[in-house]
Amino acid sequence: MRIDVMTLFPAMFDGPMTESMLWKARDRGLLDLHLHDIRTFTTDKHRTADDIPYGGGGGMIMKAAPIVAGVESVLADAPPGTPVLLMTPQGRVFSHQIARELAQYERLVFICGRYEGIDDRVRQLVVTDELSIGDYVLTGGELPAMVMIDALIRHVPGVLGAEGAAEADSHADGILEGPHFTRPPVFRGLSVPDVLQEGNHAKVARWRREQGLRRTWAQRPDLLMRAELTEDEQYLLATFADEDAAVLAQANAG
Ligand code: ADE
Repeated sequence: MRIDVMTLFPAMFDGPMTESMLWKARDRGLLDLHLHDIRTFTTDKHRTADDIPYGGGGGMIMKAAPIVAGVESVLADAPPGTPVLLMTPQGRVFSHQIARELAQYERLVFICGRYEGIDDRVRQLVVTDELSIGDYVLTGGELPAMVMIDALIRHVPGVLGAEGAAEADSHADGILEGPHFTRPPVFRGLSVPDVLQEGNHAKVARWRREQGLRRTWAQRPDLLMRAELTEDEQYLLATFADEDAAVLAQANAG
């Protein structure tokens, strides 16, 4: 997959994109990352990428022309329908599902905003989707772009060691993953659950699913509204609810 990033700060990508999984993906030719400094698409001698807002108000606005020129130049040899993604807190909130969808494309273009915003004509002319990483405002779109690239590249076949490992992730099917353990079997008096040490794969799988459900119930009950659960799993959830009710009743009695 080839990813083009339009940014005023390409050096911000140096650390995250040259370490660990992302570097491996690049090294294996699975991620072809092109960072473009928006200033290289300016045409004046001061390389002006921003200007004051029409209508007044504070802050500077990123000019449309350099960004549109940059995006058009990278799209020139990209397949029709290549997504052009604007990083903005006004976008739809990025998710596991969106990461999986984006991983299907041969090419992606990311636009990282800075300052108070971007001239809206960029959005009108070249953007196909606006994405946010959450309901808070960052100083720019570079970190959101890196977050999204990291999350989506895991879904490109060959990037993760064990094929299909992304399918076991938290959020893959609306349920969080259960706890993980490695050696030693006892650490500071805390033991690894017996079931994980016994080698019965079916039992391990059932235990993991139950633990994942328990965590989701305790930490992200909102996810359960959308999760697809078997009858057994729905029964388990009902037992968690009963357990909670019993704890509450005891607390109230005490
Ligand atoms: N730019 C500034 N804040 C952002 C956010 N939360 N998500 C995406 N882009 C942003």
